[in-house]
Amino acid sequence: GFVPTMGYLHEGHLSLVRLARKRVGRRGVVVVSVYVNPTQFAPQEDLARYPRDLARDLQLCETAGVDVVFAPGDREMYPGWQSGRGSWVEEQQLSQRMEGAARPTHFRGVATVVAKLFHLVQPDVAIFGAKDYQQAAVVRRMVEDLRFPLRVVVGPTRREPDGLAMSSRNAYLSAEERPQ
Ligand code: PAF
Repeated sequence: GFVPTMGYLHEGHLSLVRLARKRVGRRGVVVVSVYVNPTQFAPQEDLARYPRDLARDLQLCETAGVDVVFAPGDREMYPGWQSGRGSWVEEQQLSQRMEGAARPTHFRGVATVVAKLFHLVQPDVAIFGAKDYQQAAVVRRMVEDLRFPLRVVVGPTRREPDGLAMSSRNAYLSAEERPQ
């Protein structure tokens, strides 16, 4: 059971870990990846300041009963990228609208890294959050189109007591922005 993340884990991620465990059972293996994927950020976006705390993530994963944390670096995920080398996975239809219209290279980055992670981890089941609804739809479509031998499960959005959907990027919000 595989839960791909960009780290800075919160209860939303941990609920996906519990879902993975439920799917694979006590004797199955639950893997969490922690990787801030540079190719899903446009140049003007928040890659550099995206929150990171691997030591805390590892602790949370251990407490949650995760078996393996895969935390690769850029050179492992994108060999030769610095020298202009690279291959892409691009879903052609669902990726074009909504968030994809505002962030034209975002879903290509997501599909590419998720395909790589699927090859490396080889899960039977991969869990995504409903918060990123379009992402889950794009991944499902990619799995179908490329015939990945795995099942995609989408877990419900977890919310803070004030109703805000849990997200690592909530750390950016000021006290005034949060209710807005
Ligand atoms: O939802 C995320 O955290 C990321 O988009 C994902 C699926 C881990 C790919 O980098």
